[in-house]
Amino acid sequence: MKRISLTQYLVEQQRDRGQIPPQLRLLIETVARACKRIAIAVNKGALGDVLGSADTENVQGEVQKKLDVIANEVLIEANVWGGHLAAMASEEMDTISLVPDRYPQGEYLLLFDPLDGSSNIDVNVSIGTIFSVLRKVTNHRGVDESDFMQPGRQQAAAGYCVYGPQSTLVLTVGDGVVMFTLDRETGSWVLTEDEVKIPADTKEFAINMSNMRHWDAPVKRYIDECLAGKEGPRGKDFNMRWIASMVADVHRILTRGGIFMYPWDKREPNKAGKLRLMYEANPMAFLVEQAGGAATNGRQRILDLPPEKLHERVAVVLGSRNEVERVTSYHHELDNTK
Ligand code: AHG
Repeated sequence: MKRISLTQYLVEQQRDRGQIPPQLRLLIETVARACKRIAIAVNKGALGDVLGSADTENVQGEVQKKLDVIANEVLIEANVWGGHLAAMASEEMDTISLVPDRYPQGEYLLLFDPLDGSSNIDVNVSIGTIFSVLRKVTNHRGVDESDFMQPGRQQAAAGYCVYGPQSTLVLTVGDGVVMFTLDRETGSWVLTEDEVKIPADTKEFAINMSNMRHWDAPVKRYIDECLAGKEGPRGKDFNMRWIASMVADVHRILTRGGIFMYPWDKREPNKAGKLRLMYEANPMAFLVEQAGGAATNGRQRILDLPPEKLHERVAVVLGSRNEVERVTSYHHELDNTK
């Protein structure tokens, strides 16, 4: 594999395969530049006075960390003037953010979770930025929330940046998944993995086990079978990992396979799940499918779900295809007995 930069990769894709329109290339480069700035802030930690709470709450009523606020501002400021965007939506903001009239308007809509895994910031564990790109498909003048209400399969691009021992940018434009590592000395994103593939089978699951007593029967059945190991119905031992940063857990799955679940549970039965469809589930589902894996809400393909509101939540089961299909079939079996 050629060690080329993100810019070179995008230019070559655009030139050789006509995959990436110029505005989209600009958008991806802008997001990557913003991620680099966030990576620098994350790396400074206590030295940069970026740790701890910001004494504010976001739209979901969650206390924001200083880095949540910083990362959100960095992404907004970086993207507002480039001419590639029509509007942005952030997990941290109540409503969409329009590109002011004084700047040129573009055709893309950017959605992001500026800093996923906030509970890990202060303890120096991997966190990340997740982003999703839609095209404005309506003809009406201006932009409103209804422009964002598109199923995930219509994403033009999606990706995340994980800030860990290395900062890695993972991207799909609908033509497979590629990974770029930040070279801190030169400041460029360098292609380090292409044709990323998730193995169809795995022996590793990721779920917050402390919620076991609240799970629905199909999830309990699946995990019980994994825990039964070699002597159980699966005939093999399973390993468990839970980082509590979706980016880090998904990054492991894209690297060596596995299944990740944040299912609906009985703690808050009226909520479909903890994670957000537009900022977390859709971009991750797009990446996982592009790497040969699968992503469902336990019953339906995530990328087919028609969103009804910006901050909608969803149950998430994603990763190695055969395991995701198994969990999904357990849900269907239960539904068929009702
Ligand atoms: P937040 O960014 O508010 O910390 O949420 C993180 C998300 C996701 O990244 C992770 O997989 C999950 O919530 C962790 O949830 P638990 O706290 O239940 O483990």
